[in-house]
Amino acid sequence: MMKVPLMETNLNGRNPTKRGKVRDIYDVGDALILVATDRISAFDWVNPVGIPDKGKILTQLSLFWFEMFKGIVPNHLISANIEDFPSEFRENSEMFKDRSMYVKKCKMLPIEFVVRGYLAGSGWKEYKQKGTVCGIQLPKGLLEASKLPEPIYTPATKAETGHDENISPDEAGKIIGEELNKKASEIAIKIYREAHDYALSKGIILCDTKFEFGLIDGELVLADEILTPDSSRFWPVDQYEPGKNPPSFDKQFIRDYLETTNWDKNSPPPPLPEEVVIKTREKYLEAYTRLTGKQLC
Ligand SMILES: Nc1ncnc2c1ncn2[C@@H]1O[C@H](COP(=O)(O)OP(=O)(O)O)[C@@H](O)[C@H]1O
Ligand SMILES: [Mg+2]
Repeated sequence: MMKVPLMETNLNGRNPTKRGKVRDIYDVGDALILVATDRISAFDWVNPVGIPDKGKILTQLSLFWFEMFKGIVPNHLISANIEDFPSEFRENSEMFKDRSMYVKKCKMLPIEFVVRGYLAGSGWKEYKQKGTVCGIQLPKGLLEASKLPEPIYTPATKAETGHDENISPDEAGKIIGEELNKKASEIAIKIYREAHDYALSKGIILCDTKFEFGLIDGELVLADEILTPDSSRFWPVDQYEPGKNPPSFDKQFIRDYLETTNWDKNSPPPPLPEEVVIKTREKYLEAYTRLTGKQLC
């Protein structure tokens, strides 16, 4: 029997303060409880069917990376141990444990710190038209999925609704200040480089990723989730070939399935069939196990 995915959480009948596409967020004073549900989105639409344990996998993977990079920059984590959470969450531990992070509330910087090591997605699209990504000039002759000579910082604005907009690093500096922009983007690139090399040694290409930073009493803090399949593009190294769009490590079965339906991508998507859910769950678990060396479930 397949496990039941956790699609929504509530606290003794109360809804979270905010529901993102994937996460439920509870405001608990000067802190937040960030809960990764089992919701999954593809082509910007949350599917009515979830992937059992996906939220746990993403939270545990973020925690793994926060631990690895805590020497580079402070992060928002207070605790991921349910025993340390406010009592209402402890009393509902079946729902919240292993998928939630108790974090310091930050004043979030209104920029997505995207770092790209390869040409994909909106980066590839801009490069094809103008030879640049976020206004950064790149060498001629690169193909889709080509590795860039160096990883680059390609910021985007954080749109409350709709799509994020790519901007140049200079524009990001105008929005958050030169100094913060320089500091946060250098940290983002450094973490990307280390995570990329680490992941590669485990058979996964970290194509690009997005970080979010915030401030606490003026101090720069790494927040949100980091280096998960939801905030990054993971590619299987054995299927990588410049000139071709590599399959997504985690979402390939979902995208493939949705492409076989006649869904228009402008209305709620068709529910994923069970075999797609099972195969996708296996990929998420595989990514987790390859990267951390640990078994989750
Ligand atoms: N420490 C923090 N303090 C304040 N806001 C945070 C913190 N960490 C993450 N966030 C915000 O919480 C939200 C996480 O919800 P999520 O489901 O990822 O939303 P989205 O669908 O917008 O990605 C994001 O808006 C993120 O900026
Ligand atoms: Mg998010």
